[in-house]
Amino acid sequence: MNDVPAHAFYTGLVAELYSTLRSTSFPADRYARLIRRYGEPALELGCGDGDPLLALRELGLDLDGIDSSTDMIDRLRTRAAEAGIAVNAWVSTMQDLAPARAYRTVFLAGPTFNLLPDDQSMAATLRSIRGALAPGGTAVIPLFVPEAYDDADLGVRVESADGAMAWQVVSATRDEAARTQILRLRYERQTGAKTEMVERDWLMHWVTPRRFADLAEAASLVVDALPDEFGSDERDVALRRESVGAVSAASQPLCPPGRRPSVPGASLWPRRGIDPAPSRPHRPL
Ligand SMILES: C[S@@+](CC[C@H](N)C(=O)[O-])C[C@H]1O[C@@H](n2cnc3c(N)ncnc32)[C@H](O)[C@@H]1O
Repeated sequence: MNDVPAHAFYTGLVAELYSTLRSTSFPADRYARLIRRYGEPALELGCGDGDPLLALRELGLDLDGIDSSTDMIDRLRTRAAEAGIAVNAWVSTMQDLAPARAYRTVFLAGPTFNLLPDDQSMAATLRSIRGALAPGGTAVIPLFVPEAYDDADLGVRVESADGAMAWQVVSATRDEAARTQILRLRYERQTGAKTEMVERDWLMHWVTPRRFADLAEAASLVVDALPDEFGSDERDVALRRESVGAVSAASQPLCPPGRRPSVPGASLWPRRGIDPAPSRPHRPL
């Protein structure tokens, strides 16, 4: 058994199995359009072992990456070296970014923001993102609410093609008040006579649109249009750091008193639109 903090979930055996067992992919062209729309340089948070970061670098985009897992960053660097792609990526949590330059675009590919275990971590991350953005820069954060886990799926193994690697959910706990769902996951790898196994808690935490708008406002970020509620398909939300000279988000409420719109956090600047996120059931790999 191996209990680790949320930001260290993708380490050790889990990092080693990630690329073989993963069920989702992140189409580079979608994120290339996003970066071209909002500008370079860009920073990917939770870049893992390099999808889509490596493909975006191959397209010539000026893009850095951070990830909390040393193992994932090591794998990214190995892949980059093998492919001859220059990358600038380092180990950091997204709560504690200390970038050397200011970014026009900060984004996450996939709902990694929901891996932040509580509202405090989300608040710290939004402050940290603001610090990483250039004035006028934009952050794009996918948000969702996981569907309640169906206990009928407990113990169903998801295996690699050769059957040597697998993961399964061994228990599921949902707390509507805390807005969390914890899946206890078991990862296994068979190499000859040797069996490796690790169990970890995979925690998803979610916020309502109103709560997210409040957290963004507290971090002095201006939030683009929000839906009435988040659903089980991730939805990209754009946040902007005001340009120098603009009325600061901190001094400007999301909506002037008495004019609060029916849609929480309604847009305060022209909506340019973001491609819909690829719809898929959310899984740990
Ligand atoms: C589902 S993976 C996606 C990785 C990447 N998009 C890929 O496919 O290679 C989520 C990544 O977010 C990272 N992560 C989780 N919590 C983090 C945090 N608080 N700060 C930075 N990275 C984090 C994990 O280490 C993991 O590599």
